[in-house]
Amino acid sequence: MCPTSNTSLLEILTCTVCGEPYDPQSVQTICQKPDCAGPLAARYALEPRPRPSAAELSKLPVNAWRFKQLMPLTPKTNIITLGEGGTPLLQANRLAAKAGLASIWIKDESGNPTGSFKARGMTTAVTRALELGAETIALPTAGNAGGAAAAYAARAGLGCVVVMPQDTPTMFKREVRAFGATLIEHDGLIDDCGKIVARQKEEKQWFDVSTLKEPYRVEGKKTMGFEMAEQLGWKLPDVVIYPTGGGTGLVGMWKAWAEMEALGWIGPERPRMIAVQPQGCAPVVRAIEQNADRCEKVDNATTHASGLRVPCPFADRWILSVIRKSNGTAVAVTEDEIRAGVSDLATLEGIFAAPEGGAVWAGARRLLEAGLMQPSETIVLINTGSGYKYV
Ligand SMILES: Cc1ncc(COP(=O)(O)O)c(C=O)c1O
Ligand SMILES: [Zn+2]
Repeated sequence: MCPTSNTSLLEILTCTVCGEPYDPQSVQTICQKPDCAGPLAARYALEPRPRPSAAELSKLPVNAWRFKQLMPLTPKTNIITLGEGGTPLLQANRLAAKAGLASIWIKDESGNPTGSFKARGMTTAVTRALELGAETIALPTAGNAGGAAAAYAARAGLGCVVVMPQDTPTMFKREVRAFGATLIEHDGLIDDCGKIVARQKEEKQWFDVSTLKEPYRVEGKKTMGFEMAEQLGWKLPDVVIYPTGGGTGLVGMWKAWAEMEALGWIGPERPRMIAVQPQGCAPVVRAIEQNADRCEKVDNATTHASGLRVPCPFADRWILSVIRKSNGTAVAVTEDEIRAGVSDLATLEGIFAAPEGGAVWAGARRLLEAGLMQPSETIVLINTGSGYKYV
């Protein structure tokens, strides 16, 4: 088959914890083995095939659906897209100069539909939900995922219920309502909001698109990894720094590179994956420090980087295993460091980043100070969203 064929190589879903297989042609959620309940992931039938030539690449769409054979599709799939993905990888020379770095790049996700990388996950999740017969999707969200879900649901003609902490910045709420979705505000954090979805979904026939509780959001998020490889000439950087809440993008990029390697498009070298979290909510950082396999829930999680206010990520085992396999680590930053990070990105590079993006730059500076990253290394910062909604 041509390397740029439109025919998906999707084969099966498997549990990321116990390996149990699941049929991708029916609705799936998480692993049904009661002692497991791990996240499921799509597996593709991959064998080496030539990397697309420059001429072939020039004919492909510049968006998250660029490499369709690596996406969860059938030949009849009606792709629900708003043109997400295809974001720039910007060289950040002024930022580099400030910290004495040789080569730093920003994967700038702020230009996505609804202003964040959550659009990538929702294009695939909503496309699949529609295809598999869902009528209403529902999710808990710390902010950006709710707006993205509401937008893609509107475009698909699906109902959408968003459960959000009451103290989420106002713009996130207005956005959800503007797209015609039902907003439930809750006096609690995202995990409490998740319980509301879980309690009502059977009775109300909602399809739960909570982070990694269905297998397709990660398929959209992984496309950041495809793009990064192509944008750097099929050679991955030394370090990737990612603001980690539920961790979908981090595990997604790792998955993308494994798929590209199986095709023979990239080699076995991988970046060290760095998770950045705010000090007020750093379950992944604690687990890495304590060499634990699971995260412990953080009580009274606080941070103004609302997307990172995830007290205990559902896919903790997957996140921790990727960080460890990559020889990476996790680092916590303060609220002031996050603000300073946002300011540097804006004043030095012209990027009005979400606090989560500011956290990434703050994390990079901490790693440098701790000697965990060398100034000569090639570093990619993921700015996951735009700052405009947080104003
Ligand atoms: C801007 C932004 N960055 C990062 C995250 C965390 O993403 P993930 O759940 O993939 O770790 C979120 C989640 O809400 C977000 O909105
Ligand atoms: Zn399992």
